[in-house]
Amino acid sequence: MKSEKIKEETAKVIAKWANKRGSLIMALHDIQNAFGYIPWVAMEVVSDTLHVPMGQIYSVVTFYHFFKLKSPGKIIISCCDGTACHLKGSESILSALQNALGIQAGQTTPDGMFHLQVVRCMGCCGLAPIVVANGETHGRVQPAEVSKLVAEWRKKAETMP
Ligand code: FES
Repeated sequence: MKSEKIKEETAKVIAKWANKRGSLIMALHDIQNAFGYIPWVAMEVVSDTLHVPMGQIYSVVTFYHFFKLKSPGKIIISCCDGTACHLKGSESILSALQNALGIQAGQTTPDGMFHLQVVRCMGCCGLAPIVVANGETHGRVQPAEVSKLVAEWRKKAETMP
């Protein structure tokens, strides 16, 4: 994903934490949910928005094993399992994704193309169940369309450096 797009997405994702003290870790969690890792440019947006020095953000990101500084795959697929998505069948979407990709949630395909993760509510419950691939939201996903989506993402991943 291009840095400008990452900056734009990050600004949206962390807007709710802008004037809240002590929200650095929550903001970083939301960023990792959105991208699958913490891009450097996202940390810069966090620094500007929450008025926290870059050094402090970097210390937090490297202290907690949960946070990743490198993208674990070319395409990060986030399957939402927040309440609304869960009620609308996110479990069967996750299972279809796992079958189509041949990996479990939290894993990366051996070719490094896809990383699959389960995330909590991503703020678009009206579109539940949702799957987000590299920041692009797919709403009202049905298990039957998962293999078509994976084929589309594979084509995209093949053109990525
Ligand atoms: S529960 Fe999935 S977007 Fe809110």
